[in-house]
Amino acid sequence: MSTAAESSPSTSLIATLPGHWYTDPEVFRQEQEHIFESMWCGAVRSADLTGPGAFRTVRIGRESVLVTRNRCGELRAFLNVCRHRGAQLCTEESGEVRRGLRCPYHAWTYDLDGRLVAAPNLRRMPDVDRAERGLVPVSLREWLGYVWVCLAEDPPSFEKTVVAAVAERLGDTAAVERYGAEGLALGRRISYDVRANWKLVIENFMECYHCATIHPELTEVLPEFADGVAAQYYVGHGAAFAEQAEGFTVDGGAGFGRIEGIAEEQDRRYYAITVRPQVFLNLVPDHVIVHRMFPLAVDRTVVECDWLYAPEVVESGVDLSRSVELFHRVNVQDFAACERTQPAMGSRAYRSGGVLVPSEHHLGDFHRWVAEHLAV
Ligand code: FES
Ligand code: FE
Repeated sequence: MSTAAESSPSTSLIATLPGHWYTDPEVFRQEQEHIFESMWCGAVRSADLTGPGAFRTVRIGRESVLVTRNRCGELRAFLNVCRHRGAQLCTEESGEVRRGLRCPYHAWTYDLDGRLVAAPNLRRMPDVDRAERGLVPVSLREWLGYVWVCLAEDPPSFEKTVVAAVAERLGDTAAVERYGAEGLALGRRISYDVRANWKLVIENFMECYHCATIHPELTEVLPEFADGVAAQYYVGHGAAFAEQAEGFTVDGGAGFGRIEGIAEEQDRRYYAITVRPQVFLNLVPDHVIVHRMFPLAVDRTVVECDWLYAPEVVESGVDLSRSVELFHRVNVQDFAACERTQPAMGSRAYRSGGVLVPSEHHLGDFHRWVAEHLAV
């Protein structure tokens, strides 16, 4: 990677990654292997798995991962691959099985702990070790109401990576745990199919130089964003609501009070946290917004976004639309910007990349982090 000194004599402007990092399938392959298949990724919301046999499949790196609950209700994750001849076990994104996972090809059947329990003529093959032929397990952890999985054979410490990233941003983890995300209820989920490289999505989330230009509704509620400095720029900083804003809603109207347990200083503030490589957390007094990114191709990223509220708010059937609409618009505005940028990544004009202004300089850390993980 070229350094700022090589690329520009200016200290105001430092270099981005070169354009081909956003278009080259080989770079993407390395990112899949060394980042998404090596680190902890936010996979599914635990509450989506309502009971034994409920499952969801998600794409992590190049793998399909099946997350389910066993007969005791404990979470389990496996590679979604039949050990007989490799058929994908579950082709749906979500569903529920009664007793076990039955491969639709030759009917090998696994229990919810992944053990091979039945197959046509299995009794006539007494030498088959059913444990050895079971599904390949995937490491998992539960935190903030989400199942996090890691495909590495020897996963890095969850505490020293995921938890530490949140602590580093907020000063401590209590600051996020006070929102009690695991006890909140899903108010709305929207999935965005973004035709852009995942790094553009993260970079966009990390900076606010674009806020005044493309986020009129957001800057109305968070006036300091109009200055272009993202809340993530300072440790522990939450952007203050505008005086006239009653809540974090599209028109600044009232939200739904305050999540029980948050600290006084967290009221009327917005906090944003990037948990590399693919989760964004957004904290406001009355809800939590969680983005999970799933890069599908070098130029395509699916982002699943959850809006979480106190259970009594969701159960009351109250209209959430003004609340959801604010960040939905922000998402649409951001992803349009990413999609506008993606085609130019292959341009001659962007061969050696672009530049970061001072309020974007922290993106340089992200670029270095990506480079460190790749064999370049
Ligand atoms: Fe699954 Fe044959 S591939 S049973
Ligand atoms: Fe934005």
